[in-house]
Amino acid sequence: MRRELRDEEGALIALEVEPVSADDRAEADDAGLRLTREILQLRVSLPLAIPPNAPVVTTRPFVPGVDDEALLEVNNRAFAWHPDQSDWSVDDLQARVAEDWFDPEGFRVHEHEGRIVGFCWTKVHPPTDVDPALGEIFVIGVDPDHHGRGLGRALVVDGLAHLAGRGLRTGMLHVEHDNTAARRLYRSLGFTEHSAHCWWRADDTSRS
Ligand SMILES: CC(C)(COP(=O)(O)OP(=O)(O)OC[C@H]1O[C@@H](n2cnc3c(N)ncnc32)[C@H](O)[C@@H]1OP(=O)(O)O)[C@@H](O)C(=O)NCCC(=O)NCCS
Repeated sequence: MRRELRDEEGALIALEVEPVSADDRAEADDAGLRLTREILQLRVSLPLAIPPNAPVVTTRPFVPGVDDEALLEVNNRAFAWHPDQSDWSVDDLQARVAEDWFDPEGFRVHEHEGRIVGFCWTKVHPPTDVDPALGEIFVIGVDPDHHGRGLGRALVVDGLAHLAGRGLRTGMLHVEHDNTAARRLYRSLGFTEHSAHCWWRADDTSRS
């Protein structure tokens, strides 16, 4: 996918590409464009090789219509900074729950003292001409009050174990390139970069 915007003289002033090649990066650089957003697609082989004593977490399936508000509270607190995932409403959540691929068993939530404090929502993509079947970590979030206690790692491991149990051999997810905490977590679990989706724009917005 490639979208571009040019000014009246034909100069490139905005570019969006997925998947990005080295030539795309060079072209944006030559045009003096600034990278404004980069989303990485990471992949990992399943099942994960995890140490036998790795911490585990208790999860249960999400219950649509019952867990909506509690889930949204965690989501919106965890993703307050995120361009697409913040400020979700019940309608936003229900629209995804209504999609064909939705499977409550693959939407794992973790409770602490009777309250949802973290979740890992997975999505299965059937194989295509270019890709094997992919088990995606669609959204993972931990309430900020519970960050840094190993919950995020345990939830990703739990979600990937669910996908491996469904027969998936490749795990996949998308992450903003500047999401340092998440990228460090994924790297430590063996995820590697598969492709990137980038947006560039001229700094002088009066040209666009
Ligand atoms: C990413 C997220 C799920 C991690 O949850 P968490 O419970 O805080 O993470 P954990 O305590 O399990 O830490 C796991 C690893 O993440 C990394 N990590 C976590 N917080 C970090 C931070 N503030 N800075 C750098 N690395 C960090 C570390 O590698 C850590 O492993 P270590 O403790 O062995 O060093 C959580 O920060 C979150 O919900 N963020 C907002 C939502 C989000 O970004 N989701 C991912 C979208 S792709």
